[in-house]
Amino acid sequence: MKLFIANWKMYLSDDAAAALASEAADAAEDANAEVAVAPSFTALAAVAHAIAGSKVELGAQDGFWEEKGAWTGEVSMTNLKATGAHFVIVGHSERRALGETDEMVAQKVAAALKAGLTPVLCVGETKEERDAGTRDAVVRRQLAEGLKLADLSNATLVVAYEPRWAIGTGIACAPEDAAETHRLIRGLVPEGTRVLYGGSVDPSNIGRYLGLPEVDGTLVGGASTDAAKLRAMLAVF
Ligand code: PGA
Repeated sequence: MKLFIANWKMYLSDDAAAALASEAADAAEDANAEVAVAPSFTALAAVAHAIAGSKVELGAQDGFWEEKGAWTGEVSMTNLKATGAHFVIVGHSERRALGETDEMVAQKVAAALKAGLTPVLCVGETKEERDAGTRDAVVRRQLAEGLKLADLSNATLVVAYEPRWAIGTGIACAPEDAAETHRLIRGLVPEGTRVLYGGSVDPSNIGRYLGLPEVDGTLVGGASTDAAKLRAMLAVF
C-alpha cells in the first residue's frame, strides 16, 4: 500500500490543523493508502485527538536527538512518541537551509529509531548541484551520512527524495527523473524502506508518481494544507 504524508509546515493554526485532520480522516477512509499528517509541534495533541479512531497516523516535522536536558526550544523524540506520533520528518531541506548538518540529521535519525518513531529522512539536491551533475553524489552522501549512526537492524525507515528546487516552487521533478533517483536510493537503504517523492506534488500530478513502481508514495507540503486538494489527492490512491 502506498504512503501519503502531509507536511503542513508552519502554515496552519492549531485549530485549522485539527479541522483539516478531521477532513483527512474522512477522506482517508476510502483511500487505498496509508495516510499521515505532520502538523506543528503545538498542534500535535489537537490533531491526535481529531484523528483518533481513524486510519490517519500522526507525524512530527522535526525532533531533537537528546532525550532530556538543558535544550531550550527543542522537543525530544520520546516526547513526540508520547503524543502518539508514528513518523518524524528528519533533515527536511528547509531545516538544512537553516544550518542543519548531515551530522545533526544522523543524530536525529538514530534518536527517532531509538524512541520507536519511524524517521522520514529527506534527501535531495539543489538546482546548482543538479546543474553541476552531482545529484547522485549528493543523495548518496546525505543517505550515507544520515544513516551512519542508526541501528538499522529491524528498523522501519522511510526516505523522501525531495529535490530542493522542486519544493514549494510548482516545478515538480519529472516522474521518470524521480524514478531514476529512487532506484539509486533503493540500492543504498535496507530492504523494506519506503521511498517517497516530494516536491510540488498536487492533485494534477500525483497520479503520475503513484503509477511508478519505484515510488512508494508522496510527501506533500503546500497542496496538502488545502482541504479540497487534500481530498482530491487522496482520491487518486
Ligand atoms: P511542497 O513541499 O509540496 O510544498 O513542494 C514538499 C515538502 O517540503 O515536503
